[in-house]
Amino acid sequence: MNVDIGNALASEADPGISRDDLDDLDERVADAHDRIARGMADDDFGYAALNLPERADAAEIEDAVAGFDPEAVLTVGIGGSALGAITITEALAGDSPVDHYALDNVDPAHVNRLLDDLDLAETVVHVVSRSGTTAETLANFLVVRDAMESAGVDWSEQTVVTTGEAGPLRELAETEDLPALDVPEGVPGRFSALSTVGLVPAAMMGVDLEGLLAGGRAGADALADSLYDCPAYAYGAVAYALDERGASVNAMMPYVEGLESFAEWFAQLWAESLGKDGGGQTPARALGATDQHSQLQLYRAGPRDKLVTVVRPAERPDCAIPETDVADLEYLGGQDLGTLLDAEFEATEASLAAAERPSVRIELDAMDAESVGRLLFDMEAACVLAGELYGVETFDQPAVEWGKKAARGLLGGGDFEEADAVAEKTELV
Ligand code: PA5
Repeated sequence: MNVDIGNALASEADPGISRDDLDDLDERVADAHDRIARGMADDDFGYAALNLPERADAAEIEDAVAGFDPEAVLTVGIGGSALGAITITEALAGDSPVDHYALDNVDPAHVNRLLDDLDLAETVVHVVSRSGTTAETLANFLVVRDAMESAGVDWSEQTVVTTGEAGPLRELAETEDLPALDVPEGVPGRFSALSTVGLVPAAMMGVDLEGLLAGGRAGADALADSLYDCPAYAYGAVAYALDERGASVNAMMPYVEGLESFAEWFAQLWAESLGKDGGGQTPARALGATDQHSQLQLYRAGPRDKLVTVVRPAERPDCAIPETDVADLEYLGGQDLGTLLDAEFEATEASLAAAERPSVRIELDAMDAESVGRLLFDMEAACVLAGELYGVETFDQPAVEWGKKAARGLLGGGDFEEADAVAEKTELV
């Protein structure tokens, strides 16, 4: 994987960073790398996630699901317990005979529609919650279970649970004797894509798990004490430095449909990890070339508050554009759609550079398991590095937990002061 920061350095205008400033920042990167390496060696909470490519056992996960032969896998989870699986399966399982669906919201219209459309007799449900207490996930699972029962399906034969050591979901799995896998110790939800959490559905869809983990291991091997020697740190350091200079928005813009959900996964990683203590860079999601015809106007000519991150694979499948005798379209004939998409990609970079707006290019070797594993790992490492530079607690999410407790409390699921605060606020309105 290649991270090219040249277009972030090119501009003197804000937000921009000079090579000298980056050299100074590199001393802090070296210190941060020391802390990260120590955290990994000690398996400290959060840092342990960077050991997953080394520790996760692809064969064990494949064995755990080998008895299933579904037409569809339904992930029931939310946030970090769903986005990794969505991202990996969308990127890598496009040709699989098994479809992947996710219930990561509790919109009744959506849930009803999906359950009506799915052939539940041919669906395996993967229920994922690290805490085992998340209301949305548990409620959705109860609804799915009921729908399966109503359809005459033995749900207990078609359900796999992935959860932490204790909690209501673990209890339910034990009571119902469901196959239950562990969320590895020390791994926060949004850093769990390369564990059971993200890999179980991928295994059922025939994705090359070992390739994904090998890509992650290549990322771990590339961690170094200088941003100039480590693509992940180059990305994290430049994003941080640009935010400090006014790029408070980071627009993640893959130029490949298979990574559309990756932008959503990245948004969660960046926002939930770094949005702390009054700071953090707001992630935005875009898809090239589609959003080149909408958001690029803002990125190039709107407020000078953005870093645009463009992502593409170095190789694309063929899809030739037929020749035509319409004179004005002759330039297209005989080209390939991939060549056109790459031209759009380069045009976006050039357009931003011409207006002195920073961008970073991330290039994957291919849209394959190794490259996607490397991308996920490197973005996680970039985020951990950025967290060190900001000086925040990267691996907690108190604001998210506040909302979870408030919602549970409002439904009578516990005595939480957060729920009282909501009740008081509502009375004021
Ligand atoms: O990254 C996180 O910690 C969150 O996004 C969680 O993954 C999300 O809230 C779901 O939590 P749980 O897995 O406990 O159900």
